[in-house]
Amino acid sequence: MKTEALKNNLLEKIVSLCKRRGFIFPGSELYGGLAGFWDYGPLGVELKNNIKKQWWQDMVYRRDNIVGLDAAIIMNPQVWEASGHTDSFTDPLVECKLCHKRFRADQEDKIKEHEDEHKQTVEWTEPKTFNLLTEVYLGVTEPKEKTYLRGEITQGVFVNFANVVSSTRVKLPFGIAQIGKAFRNEITPGNFTFRSREFEQMELEYFIKPDEKEAGKVFDFWKKERLAWYAGLGISQENLRFREHAADERAHYARFAEDIEYHSPFGWKEFEGIHHRGDWDLSRHKLAYQDSETGEEYVPWVIETSGGVDRAALFFLLDAYYEDGERIVLKLNPKLAPYKAAVFPLVANKPELVKKAREIYDELRKHFTVAWDDRGNIGKRYYAQDEIGTPFCITVDYQTLENESVTTRDRDTMEQGRVKIESLVDCLQKKLGH
Ligand code: GAP
Repeated sequence: MKTEALKNNLLEKIVSLCKRRGFIFPGSELYGGLAGFWDYGPLGVELKNNIKKQWWQDMVYRRDNIVGLDAAIIMNPQVWEASGHTDSFTDPLVECKLCHKRFRADQEDKIKEHEDEHKQTVEWTEPKTFNLLTEVYLGVTEPKEKTYLRGEITQGVFVNFANVVSSTRVKLPFGIAQIGKAFRNEITPGNFTFRSREFEQMELEYFIKPDEKEAGKVFDFWKKERLAWYAGLGISQENLRFREHAADERAHYARFAEDIEYHSPFGWKEFEGIHHRGDWDLSRHKLAYQDSETGEEYVPWVIETSGGVDRAALFFLLDAYYEDGERIVLKLNPKLAPYKAAVFPLVANKPELVKKAREIYDELRKHFTVAWDDRGNIGKRYYAQDEIGTPFCITVDYQTLENESVTTRDRDTMEQGRVKIESLVDCLQKKLGH
């Protein structure tokens, strides 16, 4: 359990840890930063890669009717007209008449915060619609061709629907999975990486026969699968819930939508969206499907699961953070931890200990990501690994030289034991659930 005091400044602690230990840095920091952009450091990139690897494993490799795709980020602008994004991918925007700062009209907490800052009555402009697509200009002749960075990765799947059907053996129902960057010109990026302007999505578009009963069943299946996925990777059940979208908050393509929400330090927030997109996209792109057995032709419906990789990284970090006196520990699931183990020689000035530790380090690195540390006392080294979530520490000590065993120390229980060097790979594999 986290104490109330910890919960109150948890976000600040995570922001500080991410910078201090190399998980996440402010984008373009050297030049004063750029709102809504973040860079992932040596540990952050491992965490994010582990999330994506696990998602791909569980959503694609484990299932026989889901295939992958990696579409281009920039597409013909007609894609975005057909998909409805140029008209409807908007947020309501208001401007403060005193200082001309702009806010999303539906973010009442941010608006109230701004009014309090002025300490006088604030007048706002009428809300106007603001399109979130980021424009890009291509070509060498003027006027350059205008198109957009993709606002959702999804459209790349739909425009390749016929290609996937004709080039593979998929038959309805089947899914196309994709992970990739999306870009939104968010009016108010904030809460660290929670709302960024550049972020990654991991999505499944699951195609089914058009049938309301079937759609309900499939929707229910995927929302439960996805919540169980986050819980299975360590997010506390009490911090997860579903929330159905009201009709007026649904995206233009959604017939029905529910969010998986996370209980963050800034309130219950969207983690992942589950959307019943009906035939919106395929019919807008004038695509259909022919049943190879009956010859029947129809426009399939789509149930979508759409999660954010950056949001997942942030929520996994927030959920895993604990303090125990001086000790800070990230209780990350070992599958997500940037390093699976750390190897230490007991002291750095005994060449035979260092040599043995190096041999173990080199061997383990053939199988796992492993950290090396030979600075300071062992206690400090344990704490430094706890803070970045390394599940297992291995110390090469004098006994190692006598009987080929090492001291092991568990991040969560802090228990120590002895393991034979020859069993270390097996031992770690068990810990990782391999
Ligand atoms: N294809 C459907 C779609 O894009 P969405 O609800 O707009 O649906 C899906 O986005 C997920 O993408 C969100 O649940 C969130 O995890 C992530 N996401 C959306 N906007 C984001 C932003 N500005 N910054 C970080 N992640 C974002």
